[in-house]
Amino acid sequence: MTPSDVKATLSFSDGSPSMELPIYKGTVGPDVIDIRKLYGQTGKFTYDPGFLSTASCNSTITYIDGDKGELLYRGYPIEQLATNCDFLETCYLLLNGELPNQSQKDEFVGRVTNHTMVNEQMQFFLRGFRRDAHPMAVLTGLVGALSAFYHDSTDINNPEHRKIAAIRLIAKMPTLVAMAYKYSIGQPFVYPKNDLSYSGNFLRMMFATPCEEYKVNPVLERALDRIFILHADHEQNASTSTVRLCGSSGTNPFAAIAAGVACLWGPAHGGANEACLNMLEEIQAMGGMSKVGEFMEKVKDKNSGVRLMGFGHRVYKNYDPRAKLMQETCNEVLAELGLENDPLFALAKKLEQIALEDDYFVQRKLYPNVDFYSGIVQRAIGIPVPLFTAIFALARTVGWIAQLDEMIGDPEYKIGRPRQLFVGAAKRDVAPIASR
Ligand code: CMC
Repeated sequence: MTPSDVKATLSFSDGSPSMELPIYKGTVGPDVIDIRKLYGQTGKFTYDPGFLSTASCNSTITYIDGDKGELLYRGYPIEQLATNCDFLETCYLLLNGELPNQSQKDEFVGRVTNHTMVNEQMQFFLRGFRRDAHPMAVLTGLVGALSAFYHDSTDINNPEHRKIAAIRLIAKMPTLVAMAYKYSIGQPFVYPKNDLSYSGNFLRMMFATPCEEYKVNPVLERALDRIFILHADHEQNASTSTVRLCGSSGTNPFAAIAAGVACLWGPAHGGANEACLNMLEEIQAMGGMSKVGEFMEKVKDKNSGVRLMGFGHRVYKNYDPRAKLMQETCNEVLAELGLENDPLFALAKKLEQIALEDDYFVQRKLYPNVDFYSGIVQRAIGIPVPLFTAIFALARTVGWIAQLDEMIGDPEYKIGRPRQLFVGAAKRDVAPIASR
């Protein structure tokens, strides 16, 4: 962190002594005011629910410029990575800070590929779930359970353990997600096939059966790979902060990632792609295009409780760059599958057009986010709607691990322990039950 020449001065209207606070500069982005000594010197906390103005850590991994609509992984624009690199190269970049050369890539791909199988016992654990369980409920359980199977990589303070856990998690997530899906439809599990690409292997584990040869469609393979790249990391979002907070207690990496999976499930975060597709299907069932205007009125009515899912973002106050790339992929996939006239895609484009011209959205700087189109792509590929968030979790796993690793390696890291503004009852005495 580079100290700034400028200092902030905090003064109080009641005459309490003022305090000087150091300011640090990042490479890009807003400066931060260091308040670590605030409580010690003034006896006061800061109050910032939802962390609207709080940097919880310093990081070198991902940078978002919300006003410009820019997303960089280790300095590289997401557009360049999505066009020139594959997902495993992106994983290498997020984990190691640099893009791999050919031999580094070969070695990394080889390591990931050699860990794609899960302990055979995992399937018996999986069989304990109801077949209609939500895939995210299953995934939270399965990822947490990995710590019970791989005892040689559970010490978060051991860099070797963290490295092996990272490879295992990246390698096994597709296998676990596909197993959860196969279980839900009563089909046999399909074992990984290591001569396929990461995304090709996932498609095969999802859609192959033992009865027929499965041929990976390269357009769908590339589309899925792009979905993975676009979701790989997104700085200190809710699930990543959850992983950091969980890992800060020293728990094992599998448990910390399971906490991230649980957080991602929510409809305001990773669950938005599922919620968005459900929303499009509802509008379609209500009458499609003719009901778009009515639906948008509901969205703008604060009392309706309806939000335009796939729109808006805490950080992006401009078009989410991932949404543009996703829309491009959406066109490619639908063309490949002969679904150019897909009514949900037409509906999504209409909603976007209306929203981008409507004062309500313009004033609040609400733009499509990555989830607005990703559901349509996944549905076209054949991925069932409840599995969308599990695919997001699969892709985000590398980001969570990279962030966890960065935190553990940071000499300033401490267990996360927020404070509070207590507004409940002050100390009082327990009355006997008869007089309460
Ligand atoms: N539809 C209608 N109004 C909205 C929407 C929306 N999707 N998003 C925000 N607003 C309004 C909100 O009502 C508020 O209006 P007002 O100022 O009049 O009260 C204003 O915009 C600011 O909203 P906010 O809830 O304070 O913004 P936030 O930064 O706390 O929330 C968000 C961000 C993503 C939770 C929110 O935009 C949202 O709920 N979007 C829909 C869900 C969604 O698509 N989530 C996926 C996020 S991208 C994937 C990921 O990274 O996980």
